[in-house]
Amino acid sequence: MGGRDTRRKISLTGIKPTGSAVAPEQGGTLHLGSYFGAIRPALAMAAAGQHDSLYFIADYHALTTQRDPTVLRDNVYDVAANWLACGLDPERTIVYRQSDVIEVFELCWIFACIVATGQLERGHAYKDARSRSESVNAGIFNYPLLMAADIILYDSDVVPIGADQKQHLELARDIAIRMNHLYGEGTVVVPEALITEAPVVPGHDGRKMSKSYGNTIQLFAPPKALRKEIMKLKSESTPLEAPKPSEGQLVYELYKLVASEAEAEAMAQKLHAGGYGWGHAKQELFEALDAQLSPLRARYLELRTDETELERILQAGAERARVIARATIERVRAAVGIGLRSGV
Ligand code: TRP
Repeated sequence: MGGRDTRRKISLTGIKPTGSAVAPEQGGTLHLGSYFGAIRPALAMAAAGQHDSLYFIADYHALTTQRDPTVLRDNVYDVAANWLACGLDPERTIVYRQSDVIEVFELCWIFACIVATGQLERGHAYKDARSRSESVNAGIFNYPLLMAADIILYDSDVVPIGADQKQHLELARDIAIRMNHLYGEGTVVVPEALITEAPVVPGHDGRKMSKSYGNTIQLFAPPKALRKEIMKLKSESTPLEAPKPSEGQLVYELYKLVASEAEAEAMAQKLHAGGYGWGHAKQELFEALDAQLSPLRARYLELRTDETELERILQAGAERARVIARATIERVRAAVGIGLRSGV
């Protein structure tokens, strides 16, 4: 643990590979909301370079609900291709698949032995599942334990998460504090949540873009389909000549996500002046989106069809991740009294 005070802070993010009904050529899993609202801010944080960053695909978490092995594997490759296409750099960050570093289960068991079942029973996700069904699998019950192990195994200092994951992070913190209390300060690193500030991206109907509202626009939709979706965006039917508001208008709010400040200001001026219709604004929005997304779309399709390359990247990441994981596991085993006595 030497150098802990001087080492760079570690930031870790887990991504659950949830499915898509949309084929890669039709635009794949992600929608504009997940890109602008989650991926882009997360990648900006990695690019800022203040932390050593780890990004992993939580396939064992997905197994709590996914029963189709082909779909589960597809989803892992799809998430990997998506994030890499969006700019995740496997040289500067450690990108790996959760299941490739099995040390996580050793830590998970050790945590299971110090956590009261009551704490897991109070989990929102578990209670939610219970309210919908009598029989909830033990994977869902233990989900937060595995998540705590994901985090603590890599000495994570900060964990960027959405607000929905806050309770899980609190449990991970509690576990880390308890470990250090039981086995000595410095046994594990106590993680901190970093609730990411991300823009809320509106969907077709103006509500937050979300799969559950059915108002999403596929991130990697082919240009023609993307244009069609943009043209469908809700806008007021004001006469072409009339001056129009900009702020709070769906098309303009989406444009601000892709345009520079000057470009956004230029569109606002045109709207305010009149003689510029929502059709024009949608066309500009489409062009800006397409210009920004086409290189990403091309990269996504290229990667998505090359699982050998994706696997190579994931395995290289797992090797680097395992180095950190092994050091933690050895330290924790020694602390709790598992395995041989040191010096024997
Ligand atoms: N539970 C997270 C989600 O559903 C995914 C996840 C698993 C995770 N392990 C993690 C996130 C560790 C952060 C850290 O989004």
